[in-house]
Amino acid sequence: MCGIIGYVGTEAAVPLLLAGLQRLEYRGYDSAGIAVLENGKMAVFRRAGKVEELAREIGRETIDACVGIGHTRWATHGAPTEENAHPHLDCNGKIAVVHNGIIENFRALKERLAAAGHVFRSQTDTETLAHLIEEHNRGDILAAVRLAVSEAEGAYALAVLSEDDPERIIVARKGSPLVLGKGKTGSFVCSDIPAILGNASDVLFLAEGEVAEVRSTGFRVFSRDGEEREPKIRPVTIDPFSIQKGGYKHFMAKEIHEQPRAVGETIRERIHPDGVGFPELGFLGDQSTEAGFARVYLVACGTAYHAAMTAEYQWETLLGLPVQAVIASEFRHRDIPVDPRTLVIAVSQSGETIDTLVATRRAKAGGAKVVALVNTVNSALERESDAAVYTRAGIEVGVAATKTFTAQLAALSLLGLCLARAWGKILPQDMAERIAPFELLPARIATVLGLEKQVVQLAEKFYTASDFLFLARGSLYPIALEGALKLKEISYIHAEGYPAGEMKHGPIALIDERMPVVVLATKRSAYNKTLSNIEEVRARNGIVIAITDHPDDEAILRLSNHIIPIPDSEEIVIPVLYTIPLQLLAYHVAVLRGTDVDQPRNLAKTVTVE
Ligand code: AGP
Repeated sequence: MCGIIGYVGTEAAVPLLLAGLQRLEYRGYDSAGIAVLENGKMAVFRRAGKVEELAREIGRETIDACVGIGHTRWATHGAPTEENAHPHLDCNGKIAVVHNGIIENFRALKERLAAAGHVFRSQTDTETLAHLIEEHNRGDILAAVRLAVSEAEGAYALAVLSEDDPERIIVARKGSPLVLGKGKTGSFVCSDIPAILGNASDVLFLAEGEVAEVRSTGFRVFSRDGEEREPKIRPVTIDPFSIQKGGYKHFMAKEIHEQPRAVGETIRERIHPDGVGFPELGFLGDQSTEAGFARVYLVACGTAYHAAMTAEYQWETLLGLPVQAVIASEFRHRDIPVDPRTLVIAVSQSGETIDTLVATRRAKAGGAKVVALVNTVNSALERESDAAVYTRAGIEVGVAATKTFTAQLAALSLLGLCLARAWGKILPQDMAERIAPFELLPARIATVLGLEKQVVQLAEKFYTASDFLFLARGSLYPIALEGALKLKEISYIHAEGYPAGEMKHGPIALIDERMPVVVLATKRSAYNKTLSNIEEVRARNGIVIAITDHPDDEAILRLSNHIIPIPDSEEIVIPVLYTIPLQLLAYHVAVLRGTDVDQPRNLAKTVTVE
């Protein structure tokens, strides 16, 4: 993971670098550092911990520098200590490198370089690059970087600053993202646009294998072989408000409350009076199940996997062919049948998750058609897929996914309807009725958000619990898993999601008078069976928190300790509605426990290591 920033221009570099790093912390926050040229001399500042620690340290110094690079880290090779924090230097301390990715052959390179006399000071793979560039440096740092990366195996996005070449930053990428930006006072390099939002008006996405020099006045871009390329510069269109908290205490709270809009935007461009449109997937409509696709896999990780699982439940009914959600990190290691009659939907907020990318490559190698469902435009996953469908949730800053999840749920439900229609499983005259619930969905999400006070009361009652169980059946089971994941991620409470019917096969042993059990009980599916499961919990003195669209039912009123009512809605949209109280519960429990809600311990938003 990790976030990279660089600036060369006429303004003071340090505040720009620190502000950029803070906005990149969603990529990792184990340690941070910057290297700047101060009066022509390399000055490096590094700290274990978050960027604010680094800023506090630097705050004591006045640094006169207009060029520099910076890094925020999620540790892979080497503990999150100051000595392993980036930037890393060559032997003479004149070349500084920040890097996102993993150099897979770093041990062999390190041995060779150490034998040639290079002295290493950290356990990182990145330091190898600093020495490798030094080894190749014959006075042209651009040429040295090009030669060094030609020897590096694995993934990298790197920025290199040289004391002997103070007017430019050299950058290169393969497998990890890198964006160049142009602003009024100079040029930037960063892992992701939010880092330079408000400061850069135009950007360029560096392509796979490219190397570039970044000067105050602009960029020059080169292919792997050194051939110069015309830079493809485009204006920045993202609203800077999207990366501000907008009056909320945390990004997560803001993003939870943005869901009516995030889901609304995702739906809006898809539905029209008598159908659902995914014009970017025109090629899928031609493949009837008989002559075309024989099976569908949805691959994803974490929260995105829960969206994929929900789609599995919905699509197997809609499409009438085998549909399976598979955890991306497992997909490559299993002998799952993949051939040209396989359709793979890769679901990812970032489009950068390496496990999902690797699964996609395995599927493509087997001849499958791959569609990426992503929230980030121009991601690696999009580039490696046959087509991309966007969720329109906007930038999500909180590490815990919220609005991107419900946008994925809505997009996948609509995509399922679209495929079912294209493959003749739904009649044209039935489409309007199928689509109607989606038109009402943003308003219904807003209604559920209006229940926040009730959820706060629950959080106040249960925030000291050491365990939680989440139970549900059918397409709400993945939502139970997501409720448990959210709580674990940000409150550090142990939580498990189970199919309600499975509880009696083991987890019931956990239930006693201290165990809060959140049950998602919809009258739309297996309601009476879920009621029986609630009875089983109560018989063992467990505490039942029922979330239900049947809140006036005598049985659930009698059996539950607490009830959160959900508006009654058609089955295809209820996963979205049941998600909202679970997000709010996790959020308020975490706030009461005083955890770092937006940047929970050990996590990074985008996981680019296997
Ligand atoms: C969500 O709260 C998590 N932080 C995590 O599970 C995430 O969903 C997962 O890493 C997948 O990320 P992606 O959607 O960017 O591929």
